[in-house]
Amino acid sequence: MTTAVVVLAAGKGTRMRSRLPKVLHPAGGRSLLASVLKAVGEAGIAASDTAVVAGYGLEAIGAALAGSGVEIVRQEPQLGTGHAVLSAQAWWKRHGQVVVVHGDMPLLSAGTVAGLARMRLQSGAAAVLATAAPAEPRAYGRILRDPKRPERILGIVEQKQATPEQLAIRELNAGFYCFESAALAAALGQLGTDNPHAEYYLTDTIARLAAQGVIGYALEDDRECLGVNDRAELAELDQDLRRRKVAALLAAGVSVQLPATVVIDPEVQVGEDSVIEAGVQLLGTTRIGANCRIRAHSVVESAVVEDGAIIGPLARLREGAVIGAGAHIGNFVEVKKSLIGKGSKANHLAYIGDAVVGEKANIGAGTITCNYDGVHKHPTTIGDGAFIGSNTTLVAPVEIGAGAYVGAGSVITEAVPADGLGLGRARQAVKPGWAANRRKKQP
Ligand code: UD1
Ligand code: CA
Repeated sequence: MTTAVVVLAAGKGTRMRSRLPKVLHPAGGRSLLASVLKAVGEAGIAASDTAVVAGYGLEAIGAALAGSGVEIVRQEPQLGTGHAVLSAQAWWKRHGQVVVVHGDMPLLSAGTVAGLARMRLQSGAAAVLATAAPAEPRAYGRILRDPKRPERILGIVEQKQATPEQLAIRELNAGFYCFESAALAAALGQLGTDNPHAEYYLTDTIARLAAQGVIGYALEDDRECLGVNDRAELAELDQDLRRRKVAALLAAGVSVQLPATVVIDPEVQVGEDSVIEAGVQLLGTTRIGANCRIRAHSVVESAVVEDGAIIGPLARLREGAVIGAGAHIGNFVEVKKSLIGKGSKANHLAYIGDAVVGEKANIGAGTITCNYDGVHKHPTTIGDGAFIGSNTTLVAPVEIGAGAYVGAGSVITEAVPADGLGLGRARQAVKPGWAANRRKKQP
């Protein structure tokens, strides 16, 4: 029997106060929806067996999922979670069973998706639903069980309709389910809107399916069912996901100072014995080797740092920067789309863009590659062991040969050959006694 997955993501998320649909907001370096889809994929569900129900911001969601192979089903208007699943019925009914999850719950794990599907298959129940019993109260649907046969679930009552006794129930509906498709189709057909929001509730199908068997799947981690309704919850989940990333790096032999101050995206890799100091951001597809030191307040975005390099403090590596083994990139140095060879140093106040720097070169403070003429970007090449004096302006395209020197303060517009000296600055004039004479003339 094949399993389909339907991700509910049509709601506007009014409390986000945003033009962006809620599920496209990022937490932990990924959109909420991307995190959910990642869990679904890791559970072994193919993209072609996965659909996202979208309504508000459908085009933005379509653009975000372009090329993913995931189906997008329109729900218009949005009349509740039951209506959302009904909107996608033509799509999921080809499959024997369907897992339904919410697109705004980024802590969902692959284990839960696979576990729900497996339990439904093995039990033959009409539905399996994930339940949680967190210590702190949440405004979630309450699970109603058969007092005589507590393994059987009889229904879900939403917080707003619950009696005081029902509100005391601590077992909550997480919002992840697996249904036998034919049974779900029949139950959805009978849904009404007799509730305070006049919506079709997916949760109302449970009472209708109870006779055919509904059982619970207790979440291993209660936090999995944390969703995002407003920006405060978004910030909280972002922190949670960032913490998990740091924990994974710590376990892999990376030191992180003041973990709460660093921002590390999920795809980032860091090698053993590297140290990440406070306030560092490692973003995108950044790869840091072993024994590196990323000093305080550096920002590294989709760059590569090879073994033993030292970056920062306050350095900025942008996309396409590759820093060779043992190289040093110091404070207020920005590197973009450039290769910096092994053991080279740019220790202070420089901009290196579209450049290839050889090994053991020294880039003085204040060196700027003028890579942009207002229309096009041009390359700069600096050979092995070259020495670029402080405050040099390298007007690209330009080439500095291996072992060459460039005098401080030069504006270099022509190639400097290997082992040569390039000087491009005004000659200094010295006039002895000039100041004394001037003072004599002054009254
Ligand atoms: C729902 C459950 C509740 C559960 C909680 C867990 C219902 C009626 N209640 O409540 O029992 O404890 O989730 O988080 O299902 N959506 C659509 N189309 C719609 C309405 C919603 O796609 O017409 C999507 C939303 O974008 C969201 C998800 O469904 O991703 C959940 O909707 P939401 O309104 O947040 O449900 P809750 O009130 O949280
Ligand atoms: Ca919700």
